[in-house]
Amino acid sequence: MIEIKNFNNLSEPELWQIKKIWNDEVGFIYPFDDKVFNHHVINSKFLIKNASFIAFLLDVPIGFIIAKTFDTGEISAYRDRSWISLFYVSKHYRKQGAGSLLLEKCLSELKLLGKKECFIGQDIGNFFPGVPCDFDALTENFLSKRGFKSFGCTHDLILKNKDMIKGIDNSNFRYEYRFLNVSSDNEKKSLLSFMERNFPGRWTYELNEYLKNETMFDNYYLAFDKEKVIGFVRVNEPKNENVSYNITWANRFNNLVGIGPLGIDIDYRGKDISKEMMDSILKESALNNRDILIDWTSLLAYYQQYGFEVWKVYTKMKLDFID
Ligand SMILES: CC(C)(COP(=O)(O)OP(=O)(O)OC[C@H]1O[C@@H](n2cnc3c(N)ncnc32)[C@H](O)[C@@H]1OP(=O)(O)O)[C@@H](O)C(=O)NCCC(=O)NCCS
Repeated sequence: MIEIKNFNNLSEPELWQIKKIWNDEVGFIYPFDDKVFNHHVINSKFLIKNASFIAFLLDVPIGFIIAKTFDTGEISAYRDRSWISLFYVSKHYRKQGAGSLLLEKCLSELKLLGKKECFIGQDIGNFFPGVPCDFDALTENFLSKRGFKSFGCTHDLILKNKDMIKGIDNSNFRYEYRFLNVSSDNEKKSLLSFMERNFPGRWTYELNEYLKNETMFDNYYLAFDKEKVIGFVRVNEPKNENVSYNITWANRFNNLVGIGPLGIDIDYRGKDISKEMMDSILKESALNNRDILIDWTSLLAYYQQYGFEVWKVYTKMKLDFID
């Protein structure tokens, strides 16, 4: 008989069994370590323990579902949203009803919280931006049968061979491009007001979180028109405690650095500034001997001009709760 227990009734060592189930079976593709599991799950302030479960068969953990919400009010679009951050049933125990039970229990708890929609991945501290297409579309079929709709696909891109960026000519750039000076309060203020004006949702939230953090290994690479910030691209370092999505799978790569998101001031769009900014960051000597990952993007042709290629494909999926 399959028994489903929610996280509130599980000890921390029991929760860590999730990492073992996952890494034993799919860790050769998507390995996550203690830091990632702590950041995305155990210490996540968005984890909803009541809606997250482990399935057991004769006391053996065989699968799990991890749910999140975002109720701080800082991102208005996220008020009605919920997420399944990670969902998995061991290959040895499938087609016995565990997946259906986990999903049903999770969704009914999220509905009780008044949520109107549920996304797969894309949560804050996400493992994935959708359903990974590595698993024979199994999960997509399973979710479609249970009311989830797909709304396109998205990609992670990787750049290993830097030949195509060697020829970038940065002698005629119209604006200045460089990393944020973290010791300048004025520059941080200018970046924050740029972000609030142009990208008031998740990207502003993420910048605020970044500015609260003392260690700040990762950074913001900025475009300046004189003193004014007119564009940004985030550069994420695996050594940081804050695990942004594009470095979640850092163990798969050679000295990985994650790039993105990227945005340009509304008054400066249509002038190819993002191209200059990408040219400039990719020319940065600090990135020379590193693998570079750009996550959660559909701009394949744009990044292919630098030599990026598709590393992974994901189907974006969501469920609208019907009252
Ligand atoms: C999708 C997934 C969770 C399903 O888990 P599962 O335990 O096999 O799910 P269930 O047993 O409840 O259902 C699977 C199928 O078996 C059927 N089934 C259930 N009990 C059964 C039984 N006793 N005998 C035969 N079939 C059975 C179900 O009806 C279902 O078929 P359907 O989808 O056509 O209705 C699992 O395949 C998985 O972990 N996939 C990878 C997940 C993933 O991609 N995670 C990363 C992104 S979050």
